[in-house]
Amino acid sequence: MENKIYVFDTTLRDGEQVPGCQLNTIEKIELARSLEMLNVDIIECGFPASSPGDFNSVVEISKNVTEPVICALTRAVESDIDAAKEALHYARRKRIHTGIGTSDYHIKYKFNSTREEILERAAKAVGYARRFTDDVEFYAEDAGRTDNDFLAKVIETAIAAGATTVNIPDTTGYCTPWEYGEKISYLVNNVPNIHKAIISTHCHNDLGMATANTISGIMNGARQVEVTVNGIGERAGNTSLEEVAMTLKCRKDLPYYTEIKHKNIYKTSRLVSTLMRMPVQPNKAIVGRNAFAHSSGIHQDGVLKNKESYEIIDPMDVGINDSLIALSARSGRAALKHHYERLGINLTPDELNEAYRKFLMLADRKKDINDADLRVIVGVNRNEATRRIRLKFLQVMCGKNSVPMATVKLNIDGEICQATSSGNGPVDAAFTAVKKLINRKIVVEEFLVQAITRGCDDVGKVHIQVENRGNTYYGFSANTDIVTASVEAFIDAISKFI
Ligand code: KIV
Ligand code: ZN
Repeated sequence: MENKIYVFDTTLRDGEQVPGCQLNTIEKIELARSLEMLNVDIIECGFPASSPGDFNSVVEISKNVTEPVICALTRAVESDIDAAKEALHYARRKRIHTGIGTSDYHIKYKFNSTREEILERAAKAVGYARRFTDDVEFYAEDAGRTDNDFLAKVIETAIAAGATTVNIPDTTGYCTPWEYGEKISYLVNNVPNIHKAIISTHCHNDLGMATANTISGIMNGARQVEVTVNGIGERAGNTSLEEVAMTLKCRKDLPYYTEIKHKNIYKTSRLVSTLMRMPVQPNKAIVGRNAFAHSSGIHQDGVLKNKESYEIIDPMDVGINDSLIALSARSGRAALKHHYERLGINLTPDELNEAYRKFLMLADRKKDINDADLRVIVGVNRNEATRRIRLKFLQVMCGKNSVPMATVKLNIDGEICQATSSGNGPVDAAFTAVKKLINRKIVVEEFLVQAITRGCDDVGKVHIQVENRGNTYYGFSANTDIVTASVEAFIDAISKFI
């Protein structure tokens, strides 16, 4: 049996069903392109019969994304399949994903039907979909709670009707890994025509076992996994793409592989989080902020001597540029030095001693020490004098019922230049004016304003992350005027690549 595992991404369909995570068509195309760069094999991009918006997104993604197979979901209903066929018209390679509930819960309460009728409807839907494409996937909804004997009959019927992939969803996230693996194995051994189709996993995470169930499915014969980026999806979500892809990459003893371009994982995770306004939990495996952060002195020392002491994955493999050695009062000098080097600040031994003394004082008062704090310790404006770009003047106009405007004067290599711009707020207006003067493609990826204490006369700290030509640069500044701090931080980041 082939050991390639096909990655079927359903971020744009099952993932997008999360309340509040709906995307417009432009955002969906952006995400679909990013999934294409990640090299997923199949993108399920919507349920065309469900709304004109979904229909349109499938049409537009079909036009704009060419490498992966484009898939549309339907119920076992002819009009749904007609809508999918139409929406997929422009797709270079298309798949219709049709199916029906097979557990007794679904048969009795959802359909008020019988097993015989379900078999008939499954066969009819698959046969109808096959009129439009040779690539038809059948799902047995709630397969996780479907009795294996009946499930085997449904799957046999769907394959006989022309299904080329058979999806075994644990719709309610009820199965244990052992049970789910057994289910797949049962189908491999009891469905006579199973060799004519690929078995797919589709696990939900209600009991936190979606990834484990998916891996167990693979080990028992499944060769396609249905996943979402960051594991987003209804309720507790779906199996996370990055967890499965990295498990298969990292566990060399498992003889399976995906063709995912791992280095694009982190970037795609950030995009999904931003577009769907869904923060990633800090301790989320692979892509969480703390996934590679070592905080105890013993771990830090071990990692600095040899990463593999405490890291099973090199963060660079998923596109994170460095392991985040978290700094706290328990960190040693080696960790501090490492961080300064990471920021491009090389300290002499005396400077390091002095910085370490200040660092310990600060760490006593503050739990997490970040890059901005490190810069403050050695002097915020340490490299300002050597910067090619400096802010000379900034004036903003904003307020209720007025168009925010900003005028910015920069000193670039000794030459003074000025620009004025409007924006959706004073910071946006000022950034746009700066961009006019810099004339490079700069994308603000992250922008964070923090107050150091709680008063309104407080110093605001601004952290910013910008992207230029595929690289990420960080900037920081602090000022009692947060618009000035924002522009200074923006210029700080830009100065790293100018
Ligand atoms: O969870 C599920 O059963 C599904 C099917 C519609 C494939 O998402
Ligand atoms: Zn699902």
